Amino acid sequence: MLTLAELAGEASGCTRCPLAAGRTTVVFGAGDPSADLMFVGEGPGHDEDLQGEPFVGRSGKLLDRLLAEEMGLARDRVYITNTVKCRPPANRDPLPVEVATCRSYLEAQIELVDPRVIVTLGNFAARLLLDTTAGVSSLRGRSYPYRDRDTIAVVPTFHPSYVLRSGSGGEAMAGIRADLVRAKQHLAVAA
Ligand code: URA
Repeated sequence: MLTLAELAGEASGCTRCPLAAGRTTVVFGAGDPSADLMFVGEGPGHDEDLQGEPFVGRSGKLLDRLLAEEMGLARDRVYITNTVKCRPPANRDPLPVEVATCRSYLEAQIELVDPRVIVTLGNFAARLLLDTTAGVSSLRGRSYPYRDRDTIAVVPTFHPSYVLRSGSGGEAMAGIRADLVRAKQHLAVAA
């Protein structure tokens, strides 16, 4: 099996799907390669595409803040990646074929990092990792085993961009905070 760095090197030239044509950089993932906690978002946006790192724009700033406030963690202590590694044009939703084509990278990342907890951010990551068509609003509020492996808990929560759109005093903000506390409790149990 490849190392995470070797896999990132391989992915950096990926042309498996049409997103390759419009990207600046493949945004493979960032953070601690042996983290206990992994975050999986949707796909790179404008800032991420330019910088080659996931969650560095407005959503990322919110994620960093919530990570510190609810879990006492800095981003370099966790591993962060996305469902698709290349920016969809004009930030549109990734297409099913793009998610399907990219999924082997994410699955390999999960095997290599081998986290105790995966927090999925938004619908796309939750649906892919939980193999469901349900939406995050109905999925969140509990944890799930990752594909029958009770050593990895999946904790679905809202995407930070949705939380930003919903306002800082709203239910989405309270929900994402509660979900991060749930993730922290899983980490404490697994420690
Ligand atoms: N939104 C995502 O889903 N991922 C990023 O990396 C940035 C914004």
